Amino acid sequence: MNFLHYPVMNREVLEILAGTRKKLFVDCTVGGGGHSRRILAAFPGSRVIAIDQDGESLALARENLREYGARVRFHQGTYLSLFADFDLRRPAVSGVLVDPGISTVQLKDGRRGFSHTQDGPLDMRKDAGSGSTAADVLNTFPEERLADLFARYGEVPYARRLAKAVIEKRLFTPWSSTAQLRLLVEALTHWHPRPGLVHPAAQVFQALRIFVNRELEGLDAWLEKIPGHLPAGSRVVFLTYHSLEDRLVKRGFQELQRRKQVELLRPFPAKPGRDEIAENLASRSAKLRALEVA
Ligand SMILES: C[S@@+](CC[C@H](N)C(=O)[O-])C[C@H]1O[C@@H](n2cnc3c(N)ncnc32)[C@H](O)[C@@H]1O
Repeated sequence: MNFLHYPVMNREVLEILAGTRKKLFVDCTVGGGGHSRRILAAFPGSRVIAIDQDGESLALARENLREYGARVRFHQGTYLSLFADFDLRRPAVSGVLVDPGISTVQLKDGRRGFSHTQDGPLDMRKDAGSGSTAADVLNTFPEERLADLFARYGEVPYARRLAKAVIEKRLFTPWSSTAQLRLLVEALTHWHPRPGLVHPAAQVFQALRIFVNRELEGLDAWLEKIPGHLPAGSRVVFLTYHSLEDRLVKRGFQELQRRKQVELLRPFPAKPGRDEIAENLASRSAKLRALEVA
C-alpha cells in the first residue's frame, strides 16, 4: 500500500458522514484514497464512488482500495460534472466529500511540476492529457493577463513586477522548468529562508495551478445544483485550502441556506487542531464546511 497522503480533518469528515444513512458516498477527489479508505472501514456495507481528474492518482487509489473490491466504483473526470455524469437521487447518495487542490503524492512528483521544491517541467496539469501547461501560459500570455492571474489566484503582492520579469526572461529563454520560476521569484523577493516563513514561490505556483486546471470555473454553478441533485438528508462536506475557494464555498452554502434548501451543519468552518497541524503541516490552511440537504 502506498499512503503518502494524510487525509486532512478525517475525524471531522467521519463525524459528519456518520449522521447520514451511510449507504453510498461520493468521494469527489479521491487522490490516494485516504478519506475513502477510512469511510469504507468506518461504515461497513457502504459503497463509494471515487472520482479524480488525475489518472495517476486514480490508479493509486485503485491500488490502495483494492481490498474493498466492488464496494468502490472509480471514475476519472472532474467532480464539477458530477451531476451530469451520475444520477445521484435514484441510488440515494448519503454523502458527498470534496477535498480539492493537490495531494502530497502529486506535489512530491517532480515530473508533474506542481511544486517549487521539486525540479521538473512546468506542467501542472492534473489531467495530464489535456489543456495548456504552466509553461505554455508563461510563454504566451501578455503581461496584463499574467499580472491578473498572479494577483487573482495567488494574491501575489508583486504580481505586476513578476509578470514583467516573466516576459523579459522569455525573450531569450523560454519557460520550461520549475527551478527557473523559483529562482526568478527568489531574486524578485530577495528571499532568505527563515524558520516559519513560507517560500514566496508557493503563491505563484498556486496561482498557475489554479489557472491551468480551471479549479474555480464552474464551482458556483456546481454549488447551486446541490439541492436539485442530491436527496433530502444527504450531506456535503467541502474542504478548502485557500481564501478564494473558501469564499466561493462559503457564499454558495449561505445562499442555499437563505433559500431554505439546505441546513448548514456548522455556523463557522472547522479548522484542523494543533496536533493535526503538527503531524501534517499541509493541513494548516484547511477549512471544513458542511451542509445537509433539506
Ligand atoms: C488533497 S487531494 C485529495 C486527497 C484525498 N482526499 C485523500 O485522502 O487521499 C486532492 C485530489 O483532488 C483531485 N482534484 C482536484 N480538483 C479536482 C476536480 N475538479 N475533479 C476531480 N478531482 C480533482 C486532485 O487530482 C487530487 O488527487
